[in-house]
Amino acid sequence: MRPWSVPRLCYNPSETSMPNHSALFPRDFHKSFPVAVRGQGSWIFTSDGRKFLDAHGQAAVVNIGHGVPEIGRAMAAQASQIAFAQTSQFHTPVAEKLAARLLALAPPNFQNGGRVYFTSGGSEATETAIKLVRQYYLDKGLSERYRIISRRQSYHGSTLGAMTVSGNLMRRAPYQPMLAEWGHIAPCFCYHCPFERTFPDCHLACADDLETFLSGNGASCAANTAAAFIFEPVVGATLGAAVPPEGYAARIADICRRHGILLIADEVMTGIGRTGKLFAVQHWGVEPDIILTGKGIASGYAPLGAVLVAANVAEAFERSPRVFQHGFTYQSHPISAAAANAVLDYIEAHNLFARVSTASEALRAALAPLASHPHVGEIRGLGLLLGIEFVRDKLTRAPFEPSQAMGEKIRAAAMEEGVLTYPTQGCVDGARGDEILLAPPFIITPEESALISSALASALAKVFPS
Ligand SMILES: Cc1ncc(COP(=O)(O)O)c(C=O)c1O
Repeated sequence: MRPWSVPRLCYNPSETSMPNHSALFPRDFHKSFPVAVRGQGSWIFTSDGRKFLDAHGQAAVVNIGHGVPEIGRAMAAQASQIAFAQTSQFHTPVAEKLAARLLALAPPNFQNGGRVYFTSGGSEATETAIKLVRQYYLDKGLSERYRIISRRQSYHGSTLGAMTVSGNLMRRAPYQPMLAEWGHIAPCFCYHCPFERTFPDCHLACADDLETFLSGNGASCAANTAAAFIFEPVVGATLGAAVPPEGYAARIADICRRHGILLIADEVMTGIGRTGKLFAVQHWGVEPDIILTGKGIASGYAPLGAVLVAANVAEAFERSPRVFQHGFTYQSHPISAAAANAVLDYIEAHNLFARVSTASEALRAALAPLASHPHVGEIRGLGLLLGIEFVRDKLTRAPFEPSQAMGEKIRAAAMEEGVLTYPTQGCVDGARGDEILLAPPFIITPEESALISSALASALAKVFPS
């Protein structure tokens, strides 16, 4: 069976049909969607009187929690001042302020000359980085360099450029003929190591796969055409919060430098404090040339993404006589920037980045009893980006068949218990491997963490009756 032909199964009896009055084109026509009418803290309330604990922060977006009135007020104030000004003609103080704040918190190579390109989301940020890297090398007179190398089982966005660099087989499959093949190296995934080795005896073979690829010894010779390497420092949607071992990110950065290619850290999911630091690469002191972010930057109050460009790359554009041939009408939207500034104010006022590690410890402690379940393979992650992988056989780590849709079954059962989780599939080989992702708001309380754990225990009992 081809990955894209895996049927999307519905396990929640209340989710078997689409209400025929909906005018929306849904994500899945075989499912009906509760109608969200209100959000407060870590909770979402629906039109039918139910409430759900938002344990995945709506796909790792809602960092500060739902319903914070200060954010709406800041957006309204901006809208009444100037709602929109197009970036080919104007800059705005609100976007300038946000860019300066992000750069001040970014790694050292973004200080003194770094720049920020705002987009409306993560996929646009990836597209921008792909084109920015290309133009950087054109300006350097290296027109042969265009390939952005990435990893298997990665996800960098939905648009065709972003899908080209994404390594997730299932998401790529329907569009395969439309995607370029620039090259994917091995993922960094210790629980299912692609080299069947164990850290530290592996000597980071997965990082050295980039060296092999760039040296032209791999399946495809990319030595002269490679322009950049893109990676998620902690892999979210496709590997269920897989954290690299110590030394991986630094080795990757070193290989990129030696081969003269740029390093892009895709922190759309991991950025803005989700792992406890502003950017996950800061856990390892790595300095990428470009950092992408999105999702939590405006905590869901407005659509926003950002491309942080290090000083060395930005200065090359400053020196170039050409303009960057790229742009989106809504980039640097003032209301989105106002929302993000207000979110950063709120994070600072409530010291929320520091809270991530204590909330993470509480959530991990609450989840710990689940680890002994015969079908829970691993609980992993960093900060408040956690994943639980479900396996058919705990000893061999063998996955379930994709057609069993175990992650989706567990998500649906947890939702019946009032807890929202984010299922993902394909971590083992692009098709097999089931996890759920947990990425709650940073304000999650120990009591709410206990609720997540008990709902998941009930969900597991329902899906795997003894
Ligand atoms: C790592 C990563 N990059 C890019 C994207 C795409 O972002 P968006 O959905 O905002 O376009 C995502 C979305 O899940 C992501 O997780």
